[in-house]
Amino acid sequence: MGLNKVSVRAARQRELIGESVCIEGWIRTRRDSKGGFSFLEVNDGSCLANIQVIADADLPNYEEEVQKLSAGCSVSITGEVKESSGKQDTEILAAEVTVHGWADPETFPLQKKRHSFEKLREWAHLRPRTNTFGAVTRVRNVVSRSIHDFFQQRDFLYINTPIITASDCEGAGEMFKVTTLDLENLPQRDGKVDYVEDFFDRPSYLTVSGQLEAEIFALAMGNVYTFGPTFRAENSNTSRHLAEFWMVEPEMAFYDLDDNMDLAESFLKQVFSTVLEECQEDMEFFNQHIDDSLLATLGSVIESDFQRLTYTEAVEILEQCGEQFQYPVEWGRDLQSEHERYLTEQHFSGPLILHDYPSAIKPFYMRVNDDQKTVRAMDVLVPKVGEIIGGSQREERLDVLTDRMAQQDLDPESYWWYLDLRRFGTVPHAGFGLGLERVVQFVTGMANIRDVIPFPRTPGNAEF
Ligand code: 4AD
Ligand code: MG
Repeated sequence: MGLNKVSVRAARQRELIGESVCIEGWIRTRRDSKGGFSFLEVNDGSCLANIQVIADADLPNYEEEVQKLSAGCSVSITGEVKESSGKQDTEILAAEVTVHGWADPETFPLQKKRHSFEKLREWAHLRPRTNTFGAVTRVRNVVSRSIHDFFQQRDFLYINTPIITASDCEGAGEMFKVTTLDLENLPQRDGKVDYVEDFFDRPSYLTVSGQLEAEIFALAMGNVYTFGPTFRAENSNTSRHLAEFWMVEPEMAFYDLDDNMDLAESFLKQVFSTVLEECQEDMEFFNQHIDDSLLATLGSVIESDFQRLTYTEAVEILEQCGEQFQYPVEWGRDLQSEHERYLTEQHFSGPLILHDYPSAIKPFYMRVNDDQKTVRAMDVLVPKVGEIIGGSQREERLDVLTDRMAQQDLDPESYWWYLDLRRFGTVPHAGFGLGLERVVQFVTGMANIRDVIPFPRTPGNAEF
C-alpha cells in the first residue's frame, strides 16, 4: 500500500481524523515528556501552523534518533491522525519517524529566539523556514494568482514583453546595461564605445517597464497585460525601492483616464479581498505581529471609494496644511513620500488617486491636457506605502507626441515603431503599472520591501 502523503495543512483538518497519513517537513521544536514520549512540531510551509506529532518511546529509533531531533532537521512521519486534546484540532501519533537530514543545533542559525528582519536578510536561504517569511510567501503567491484572475476574468490577454530592450520607457536613465563587450578592452570608434561591436549592435538595457511593447499589442488586441521582472538602477536605499521588482502592466485600447482609474480601483479591491478571504491565518498573523491595524485598514479600503483629486488640488492642501515638511511643496515639483503619506495618512486617511500632473515631471508618452501644462497621469497612493500604481492615458496624437519627445531630447528615430502606432490606426488608450512588492507590503504591513521578495536586489546586495 502506498503512503498517504498529505500536507501539514491537510493533516490539521478534522476530516482526516482516523486516517493513516505521511507528512514530510522540518522540525520546529522537540519537547520530551516525562511520560516516555516526545512532542515534535513539524512545519512544511503549507500553512503557518505546525502539526504536533506524538513520538512514543516504543519507536525503534526513539533513543538513537527521535530524542536527538532539533530545529531544522528534516523528517518523514507516518502515523494516524488523532483528535487532539490541545488547542489544535488534530495531532499525529507516529508509527514511523524517518530522519533525512540533521541540523546541528550548535550551528543552525534559526534557533528559537526571534531574529531581526535585517539579520534574516543575511540568511535569505533559510528565512523561508520562518513564520513571517512563510506567510509572506503564501500571501505573495495568492496576490500573483489574483492578479492573473482579475485580468483573465475580463478577457485581458497576458503578453510577455521583452526583458532586454534598447529604449528607456520612463526616460529617467535608470537602466542597467546589457553587454557582451569586454569591459577591460572596449572597441572604440571616433573616441566613443563602438556598440556596433556589441551583441545587439546597439546599447541595450534591462527593461524598466513593458509598457511600450504592451501598447503595441493593445493597439491590435484591445485589452492586454504584462507581468514580469523590471529593473531600475536607481541608487536609492529606501524601504520601498528595489533594483529588481515585479510589475503588472495592463494596457487598454479605447480607454481614457477615468476608465483607467476605475479599473485600477476595482483591481486593487479585488486583490485585497482575495487575500483576506484566502489567507486568513496568515493575515491574522500579520495583524497580530506586524501591524495591528492591518485587517481593519484593508476592510475599510475595500468598502470605501478611493478619493480622486488633481495634483494641483493636492499641492494646495499641502501648502495650506501647516505641516513642516523636509522637502518643499511647490507646484511643478514632484511629491515626496512624506507628502504622499501626509495626504493618505493624515488628511484623507485612505487611498487616493492623484491625477493630471505637471508635464515637466512626467514621461513623454502621457497625454497632454488642453492647458498644455499638465498631462493625464495618475498615481494611486495608499497609507504607509505611498505610490502603489503609476499610470496614464497615452498621447495618441502623432504631432503632440513628437513635440514632447523633442522637449525631452528623445531621438524619434529610435522610437520609430512607437510613433508608427500613432500613424496607423491610433486610438485613445491608457494603462498603468502596479509594483507587486508594494502590494505585498501594503497587505502584509511589512515595513521593508526587502522582506516581501524572496531575493532582494538593492545597491550592494546580490548574494543569493
Ligand atoms: O510609476 P512607474 O515608474 O510607472 C511605469 O513604469 C509605467 N510605465 C507603468 C505603466 O503605465 N504601464 O512604476 C509603476 C509602479 C510604481 O507605482 C511602483 O508600485 C512600482 O512600479 N515601482 C517600484 N517598485 C519597487 N521598486 C522600485 N524601484 C520601483 N519603481 C516603481
Ligand atoms: Mg511612478
